[in-house]
Amino acid sequence: MNSKAIITSALPYANGEIHLGHVASTYLPADVTTRFLKLNGVEAYYVCASDDFGTPILIQSEKEGKTPSEYVAYWNKRDYEDFKAFGIDFDFFYKTSSDENIKFVQDVFKKLNDAGHIYEQEIIQFYCNNDKKFLPDRYVKGICPYCNAEDQYSDLCESCGRVPEEITDPKCSICGQTPTKEKTMHYFFKLKNFADSLYKWLDESEHLQKDVKKYVQNWIKSGLIDWDITRDITWGVPIPLDNAKNKVFYGWFDNHLAYISTALKFLNDKGIDGKAFWNSADIYHFIGKDIVYHHYLFLPAMRLGINSEYKLPDYIPTRGHLTLQSKKISKSRNWYIGLKQFLNYYPADYLRYYLVAINPYSQDDLNFDWDDFTTRINSELIGNLGNFVNRALGFTKKAFNGVIPKTTTFDEKDKEAEEKISGLSSEIGDLMNSNHLDRALKKVMEFSSFFNQYFQHKEPWKNGPGTENCVYLAVNAARSIAIAVYPFIPESSQKIWTQLGFSDNVNDHKWDEMSELAIPAGHMLGEASPLFSKVEATDIERYKKQLGPQ
Ligand code: MF3
Ligand code: ZN
Repeated sequence: MNSKAIITSALPYANGEIHLGHVASTYLPADVTTRFLKLNGVEAYYVCASDDFGTPILIQSEKEGKTPSEYVAYWNKRDYEDFKAFGIDFDFFYKTSSDENIKFVQDVFKKLNDAGHIYEQEIIQFYCNNDKKFLPDRYVKGICPYCNAEDQYSDLCESCGRVPEEITDPKCSICGQTPTKEKTMHYFFKLKNFADSLYKWLDESEHLQKDVKKYVQNWIKSGLIDWDITRDITWGVPIPLDNAKNKVFYGWFDNHLAYISTALKFLNDKGIDGKAFWNSADIYHFIGKDIVYHHYLFLPAMRLGINSEYKLPDYIPTRGHLTLQSKKISKSRNWYIGLKQFLNYYPADYLRYYLVAINPYSQDDLNFDWDDFTTRINSELIGNLGNFVNRALGFTKKAFNGVIPKTTTFDEKDKEAEEKISGLSSEIGDLMNSNHLDRALKKVMEFSSFFNQYFQHKEPWKNGPGTENCVYLAVNAARSIAIAVYPFIPESSQKIWTQLGFSDNVNDHKWDEMSELAIPAGHMLGEASPLFSKVEATDIERYKKQLGPQ
């Protein structure tokens, strides 16, 4: 394991609230991974930023009568607060519109330009004579030429998911008039220059997902197209050339560079040489599958274009999309659950548990289902884990006044239990290291289930021979669980830790300590109380009704 790591997850657009779909595929897996790495003693930093630029944000701010900076400042703050309430523990959360990022982006552009990776080309753009502006992307609405859906943006048909070559019956989305076509000079990034080096990078990468690699390589084989990186609007990173007045970079040119500029700002402020750190760390970019193209081609090509001055990512964990009650999430159809709203219903750990449990390391979509949520929380988190911990600690309180007894000779069952504890950290650690967070969590649950059975089998309440061993091993297993679940459900982990009678923080300890029998005879437990409370079906029925048209 590399002793340093930088972790990022797809930067959220400063354009609306965070919902379950966002956290499931990127922020939660990244947070769990960071917590795991930190427990392993890795100097790991999780950095993120709001993605502030782009046409949709400009349009929305205009609609709300705010300046774009006011508008993004609001969402930057609100999104950060929601993440925090969910236990997403960024080391630093910044913004793509920061001075540091703007400067960094302009520098990268100059270097790419000097190296011959940029060219100018005149293109034809829609122009509104009424509003006196060019109309990129969402500024034009019309009919999708593929599926004939009406009222679609020119850069994406939400009905069929395709990007129209040219939208039918175009209209200015501000005033509704038919735009004209005008010439404008744009800058292009020569993605084609990088076909071979990208292919090779993918071939040689050790940790990228095989299936994603394969289809990205197929894209390369079928021919890359150069990227238009210019927008004729006022909100964005200004293009640093004299003849590029009133032009800014396309949002996807600058946003991913904020991974680097944000990390540099954070590290340099800490007195660490940011660039040296970046280049010696493992770099993780957590993303959802909709932005594979940008992260497996555009982002690495731009880094290659500046001579890998900042190294390319080692891991790009890519996951599928969350559906809700088996239907596509849609804000406009009220088919979504805001993160903040969910946290009014249940503690963060319930959602963290559920979203990790249903989330494989793959591009398959995953589904949030209220009934499945109920079952899993009630039977797994509460019925298995919560029950075991409460039983072990509660019994020790009752029968031994909370003091761990001296052990006697271990029988076969005790030895098996002891082995389970000593094997736990590497068993789960291997899965965590290979990004299989769901399987790792499942192993913890199997461990807990084993100890439930062990406890049941030993019947310590009969106070027969071996009772002391059972109590000693069960309490130590509860301690192992506290450490093992820390990356997943940090609040509950700390609760268990405190109930075990420790006054420090569980994350002051190391991952491997879960495999030690560190609670000795004579140790006094803290107060035991139930960790969770049951999810009630009547509540769930109410929450279900809040989805869809009201
Ligand atoms: N804001 C983009 C989205 O939500 C993701 C940007 S990730 C970045 O799709 F790396 F490019 F910044
Ligand atoms: Zn117009």
